[in-house]
Amino acid sequence: MRFVVLMGGPGAGKGTQAKRLQETLNLPQVSTGDLFRENLRNNTELGKLAATYIDKGDLVPDEVTIAIVKERLSREDCANGALLDGFPRTIAQADAFEQLLAEMGERVHVVPYIHVTPEVLLKRLAGRWTCKSCGHVYHTVFNPPLKEGICDLDGSPLYQRDDDTEETQKRRIEVYFEQTAPLLAYYRDKGLLVEVNGEQSIELVQKDLVQAVKDSN
Ligand code: AP5
Ligand code: ZN
Repeated sequence: MRFVVLMGGPGAGKGTQAKRLQETLNLPQVSTGDLFRENLRNNTELGKLAATYIDKGDLVPDEVTIAIVKERLSREDCANGALLDGFPRTIAQADAFEQLLAEMGERVHVVPYIHVTPEVLLKRLAGRWTCKSCGHVYHTVFNPPLKEGICDLDGSPLYQRDDDTEETQKRRIEVYFEQTAPLLAYYRDKGLLVEVNGEQSIELVQKDLVQAVKDSN
């Protein structure tokens, strides 16, 4: 089994890369953000609770987040491991994750960190459009769809996320530096962190990420 934790600020390109790496690495993308949004679409209690935090740009409480990841990893498609996108995001989540994996006789193999400066993060978030159906991510300038407002892959309409207002974007970046950035040292100390330059083309970032996973053991 292989567990890859993708790190990076909001808009660094975790989702973009995870979608592409799923096939290359033959590992499913496990995105806590996507899981929360899926719950919200299905109008579950969990989704409604998560939305009260997501809409403000704050983190959903650790217990709720850890439980959703635990359930997700128990599904059949995670038999080979998983590509974590947006989890863990706090030291408490990282500790809980480590314990969960230890119970399975497993561990985190590598933590690629997609490094992007805050100014660029804001530009990325401002132009982002997402497919309603498959979740593929586009950008009006950096990665436009062939036909405006339509997904190249399945022809479904694109939408802008509710938490992509200017105010919420700024808050998410702030929360990232306060609560998630400490995880960089956490994983560096364990010898797992590999920094990747996130301000290159999507293809080059992908190439570096694949290399980081290949070099891990
Ligand atoms: P989540 O959905 O995880 O959002 P995020 O971390 O803020 O990350 P984003 O999805 O915004 O960015 P990304 O890095 O995936 O970038 P993307 O590929 O889209 O979380 C949302 C909320 O859920 C959180 O705020 C929190 O409330 C809650 N939550 C989630 N997980 C949680 C947890 N573990 N604990 C507690 N709460 C949690 O790319 C961005 C844009 O840039 C796109 O338009 C893309 O086309 C473009 N782009 C990508 N790469 C490049 C490139 N190389 N060059 C140019 N443009 C690029
Ligand atoms: Zn699509």
